[in-house]
Amino acid sequence: MRKVFNFSAGPAMLPEEVLRQAQQEMLDWHGTGMSMMELGHRGAEFKEVAEQTAADLRELMAIPKNYHVLFVAGGASTQFAMVPLNLYGKIKTADYIDTGIWSKKAIAEARRYGDVHIAAAVQTRDGLAFIPPQDMWALREEAAYIHYTPNETIEGLEFHWVPKTATIPLVADMTSTILSRVINVHDYGIIYAGAQKNLGPAGINVVILREDLLADALPCTPTLYQYKIYVEHGSFYNTPPTYCWYMMGLVLAWVKRQGGVSYFATLSQRKAAKLYNYLDNHRGFYITRIHPECRSQMNVVFDLLNEELRSVFLSAAEAAGLTNLKGHRIIGGLRASIYNAMPEAGVDTLIEFMQYFLQRHG
Ligand SMILES: Cc1ncc(COP(=O)(O)O)c(C=O)c1O
Repeated sequence: MRKVFNFSAGPAMLPEEVLRQAQQEMLDWHGTGMSMMELGHRGAEFKEVAEQTAADLRELMAIPKNYHVLFVAGGASTQFAMVPLNLYGKIKTADYIDTGIWSKKAIAEARRYGDVHIAAAVQTRDGLAFIPPQDMWALREEAAYIHYTPNETIEGLEFHWVPKTATIPLVADMTSTILSRVINVHDYGIIYAGAQKNLGPAGINVVILREDLLADALPCTPTLYQYKIYVEHGSFYNTPPTYCWYMMGLVLAWVKRQGGVSYFATLSQRKAAKLYNYLDNHRGFYITRIHPECRSQMNVVFDLLNEELRSVFLSAAEAAGLTNLKGHRIIGGLRASIYNAMPEAGVDTLIEFMQYFLQRHG
């Protein structure tokens, strides 16, 4: 039995069922007498696992045939560089939407290789952080692509709509939202996501890339940063992070067993609504700084009106088995990350705890 509900933003809670399966298969994977970590990456066994993982992701997200699915070692930060290096082409200019800290990191990296135009940035409405609607954006026709972050993990700010970019490819950093809502892959040129929230353990990221965007990367691009290399070698140019890939496979199979992305979309909505409703109904004690139209379903960022109570809240929560509720070190406050593997009971227990804490300290 698991003893805590882990609200970490990532590496995040994994489904218990998946961890048990990995434990069971640890010493002898499917009668090979070896663990998955010891199997050669070019052997038939790992190839099968790798292909099944890709097929499951394709099925879950209904990824059309004209999109490649790539598995790249490292975190999503790798993509902050790979996207401009591979998409800038001769134009060497792109539009970015700046909604928070992860957007800014992507922008800083893209600026190393070309010109970045900030087409829109987060604003304040009624004293709350707010994503401006697209008719207020200054997009440019000459941009090689448009990059945005559908869910800002640190601030807890999420798009509940998809930008319309006509013929300019839309690039989305879906690290903290992938598989939590049904999307239409056709709306995007590239979708990328680090694994350590809804896909598996840290160390690997997936890139979903529209075929026609595969072009020569900038000449300075290291071999392992070229999408072409991943496409040509089926993500096997060098030794991939086999265990992370295998774990992602177990998570995706679990997502399918639960009922797929639509199941988690409904569940995520319900979990987030419970938490935000509670916060809204207890505004004199708890606060949120995100406009209701842009609240994240995955990362509920909040605080106590009396900041001095924060450390008391965190240690009491920890004692109650509710861990990692501390906000990101850059912005402080509190944050409950409620990815797919967080059961609804975890959210219910958190709300009960918040009510108990309010009664004691309110
Ligand atoms: C939205 C988003 N983008 C990018 C990253 C960077 O991921 P990594 O630290 O694995 O490179 C994170 C990490 O949490 C994230 O939440």
